Amino acid sequence: MKIFEPIRIKKVPFQNRVVMAPMVPFGMPELPTGVMSDTLLRHYLDRAANGMGLMITQSLSVTKARPTAGGAGIYADEHIDNLRAIAAACHERDTRLFAQLAYPSIGHQNGDSVNRLTAEELAVITEEFVEAAFRCKEAGCDGIELHGAHGFFLNMFASPLANQRTDIYGGDVDGRLHLVRCIINGIRVFLGADFIFSYRMGWSDDMNTDIQTAQALEALGVELLHVSSGIPASRYTAIPEGFPFNSVVFAGTDIKKHVNIPVTVVNDIRTLNRGNTLLENGLCDFAAFGRPFLADPLFFANSLSNKDHEPCLRCKTCLWFTHYDRCPALKKSKRL
Ligand SMILES: Cc1cc2nc3c(=O)[nH]c(=O)nc-3n(C[C@H](O)[C@H](O)[C@H](O)COP(=O)(O)O)c2cc1C
Repeated sequence: MKIFEPIRIKKVPFQNRVVMAPMVPFGMPELPTGVMSDTLLRHYLDRAANGMGLMITQSLSVTKARPTAGGAGIYADEHIDNLRAIAAACHERDTRLFAQLAYPSIGHQNGDSVNRLTAEELAVITEEFVEAAFRCKEAGCDGIELHGAHGFFLNMFASPLANQRTDIYGGDVDGRLHLVRCIINGIRVFLGADFIFSYRMGWSDDMNTDIQTAQALEALGVELLHVSSGIPASRYTAIPEGFPFNSVVFAGTDIKKHVNIPVTVVNDIRTLNRGNTLLENGLCDFAAFGRPFLADPLFFANSLSNKDHEPCLRCKTCLWFTHYDRCPALKKSKRL
């Protein structure tokens, strides 16, 4: 099955095409220092025992200037040790680890804006992203993923709906991605052949803009593109009849046709078999799974062995957004 085939990006080998998507397990203890709690660290170590191709951490904050939702940062050297422990656990199973980096934001949907930030503030933020990425490399991560989706900070810059700036950080697609360009230029210095620069992009309100954005990201040096929802949070997409996936996956598969870098698709893929269908049809290079890894920490390993797998019950609102310890699938399997 194609989903189990290895792939290489630069010098970094991935043993298969299965990705654990970035997810903040809300409700776990949060430390004011931004250091991961023991519970949170355990959460990752448990999931590192699977054998999937790639694990992506939850969004880690690059700054102490704003509160960190979900409780983990990578804005200080004291954050490196836990990430190093997760990277080591992943590497023991030949799984690669990316850290997702984000500047905390309540998001476009909740009234946040990037339009009033000054050039001086953006220079500081750029530096914070670059320093955070360097710490990830120090920790032994195989790459970083910039969080540019779901209406949050970088998504607001990239979005023609949210970005009303008239300076160098706004305007056409090149202007809207100027902040990403500045971040990439800082990271390029230490990128090397064994550290990958990836980007999670959010869709826009039309596919042409998505394609333009994806191509511009490729031209900037993004090496792996992960496609998810963006601004607006939902949109109507004419999905071809018989396409058995949702509009977020469809957006990713559409973008894949227009870029030359590997593309990860995500959202409600649910099973390895369904992920494999996407890969077999050449519609993506990686399939990411979120909630399945929350419901069953050993989602990948248990699906493979076809034993003890507890599927996500797809609650109307995932309980991991508020109280992870009430997840019915976790409770059912007595894994809590
Ligand atoms: C509890 C929870 C927290 C999430 N946190 C993040 C995050 O930190 N960064 C991010 O890009 N996406 C985040 N997501 C979105 C997931 O990465 C993924 O795109 C989404 O769950 C859809 O995939 P799925 O249907 O396989 O769960 C989160 C999702 C959930 C359920």
